[in-house]
Amino acid sequence: MAKNGKDPSKLRSREWFDSKSDPTMTALYLERYMNFGLTLAELRSGKPIIGIAQTGSDLSPCNRHHLDLAWRIRDGIRDSGGIPIEFPVHPIQESGKRPTAALDRNLAYLSAVESMYGYFFDGVVLTTGCDKTTPAMIMAAATVDLPSIVLSGGPMLDGHFVGGLAGSGTIVWYARQELAAGRINMDQFIEMVASSAPSVGHCNTMGTALSMNSMAEALGMSLPGCAAIPGPYKERGQMAYETGRRIVDMVWEDLRPSKILTRQAFENAIVAASALGASTNCPPHINAIARHIGVKLETRDWDKIGYDIPLLVNCMPAGKYLGEAFHRAGGVPTVMAELLRKGKGHGDALTVSGKTMAENVKSAKPVDNDVIMSYDKPMLKEAGFAVLSGNLFDSAIMKTSVISPEFRQKYLEKPGDKGAFEGTAIVFDGPEDYHHRINDPSLPIDENSILFIRYTGPVGYPGAAEVVNMLPPDRLVKGGILLLPCVGDGRQSGTSASPSILNASPEAAVGGGLALLKTGDKVRVDLNKRTANILVSDEELARRKAAWKPSYPASQTPWQELQRKFVGQLDSGACLDFAVDFQRISETKGVP
Ligand code: FES
Ligand code: MG
Repeated sequence: MAKNGKDPSKLRSREWFDSKSDPTMTALYLERYMNFGLTLAELRSGKPIIGIAQTGSDLSPCNRHHLDLAWRIRDGIRDSGGIPIEFPVHPIQESGKRPTAALDRNLAYLSAVESMYGYFFDGVVLTTGCDKTTPAMIMAAATVDLPSIVLSGGPMLDGHFVGGLAGSGTIVWYARQELAAGRINMDQFIEMVASSAPSVGHCNTMGTALSMNSMAEALGMSLPGCAAIPGPYKERGQMAYETGRRIVDMVWEDLRPSKILTRQAFENAIVAASALGASTNCPPHINAIARHIGVKLETRDWDKIGYDIPLLVNCMPAGKYLGEAFHRAGGVPTVMAELLRKGKGHGDALTVSGKTMAENVKSAKPVDNDVIMSYDKPMLKEAGFAVLSGNLFDSAIMKTSVISPEFRQKYLEKPGDKGAFEGTAIVFDGPEDYHHRINDPSLPIDENSILFIRYTGPVGYPGAAEVVNMLPPDRLVKGGILLLPCVGDGRQSGTSASPSILNASPEAAVGGGLALLKTGDKVRVDLNKRTANILVSDEELARRKAAWKPSYPASQTPWQELQRKFVGQLDSGACLDFAVDFQRISETKGVP
């Protein structure tokens, strides 16, 4: 009776629906799960019961079409001999949740762990899309370690505005500059922004959503090609069907996240992130997944393994195209095949297909000259994340694929000390303070200023706000200075092309170096040496430290308070630290 080695009587779901030790409880489970039409025969058939973790709802427009895709997932599960059971996941909408959607990643993680572990699932399909939904689902799958497969929702169709492409997020940063310079009015601003969202799907730029879904594929957690198929394309429904089919076989093969999410898989994700020009949110999310599966990965590894990798993908914000072109050019398989061809990454890493990464991408489309470039003729050389440290923070990252050619030439491509720059700090305590004061004429901002924002990390602004990419004051923008270097303990949108140093850890709210900074201090950043320091004596810093008291706004909800008590810093994934001790619980803790 065993199929591919696994004995049906050993399925986890049998503990609920066919328990020999407690038949009266089995009767109770059966009667209630039959009440919407499932039959006794189905529930006692010994077929794997597959959860569909549903992240879509009216509240989460980026993931909403998973409500429809779930029907194709169900078809696939049924055709492959399983029984689908769909369940809701705590909603996360990046653009809708206040104070910040990142607050809810760990909440969705916790709730998904409870659902996956506390019910009768033998395997799970993880629906993903909008930024935090992807890491939340994979983190939960890592903790529970049931056979699990990702189905991405896919990007929206490409947006257009007066003939050109309008990309999610990137159009907002551009439109804000136009508005600040007085070239458009508010109605035109809204029209421009809305033009970037023409259909169902998540952000169509290489923002956090497309980056993290590409990471899921590079990690081996989704079927090849899954990440980039636009939400409305027929291939998306077909991928949903194949994903449903595949998860049932994964149950029989006992193919769990712990066999896929190895150190090799994480290194594949890191090299892919550089080649994609992926979001600055990838390091914290990927590091969080690594911690939950028990693989050692540090922020510094992103620099060590990924910095030298060139930018291959010509998508906004680092390039000019959007999701549809990326998909047509071959998507993640083409990028992975090109990286593996040059000996980057690990071709023998196992994936949810049951095959290795190298086998998955064997027939990938060849590199295109305009959307996905070859390794030898890339968009940019050395396009990974630079990881800095100093007396301002132990770790902060800079996304080098988006910084301007002038900035790159001036600071990154000069040897030794010549890559360093000094500036005068202008310090804001959170986004409200920034908005309140940025256009204050008495604030001494000029082209040699460095803008700092603090108290915006996981504790200070619970969840860590996406606010580090700050626009200079209107008077500088009107004079043609569109960007200043920005530094902060918050995050920034994956769609931003700002030359920021962000995710600074430890954050000001827990006493990190940024807390000691004052407006007017000189700061020296050396990108080549990967250092960032306040040029103030150690004695003065010690004095400031002794006088410092933590201060940040009170929590507005119970969850904010709970998260603040237990959350770690961005460089270690901003996990709930106690949760990391719970690993592979479907095996180590048995059946609840
Ligand atoms: Fe949901 Fe960008 S806002 S994917
Ligand atoms: Mg975002």
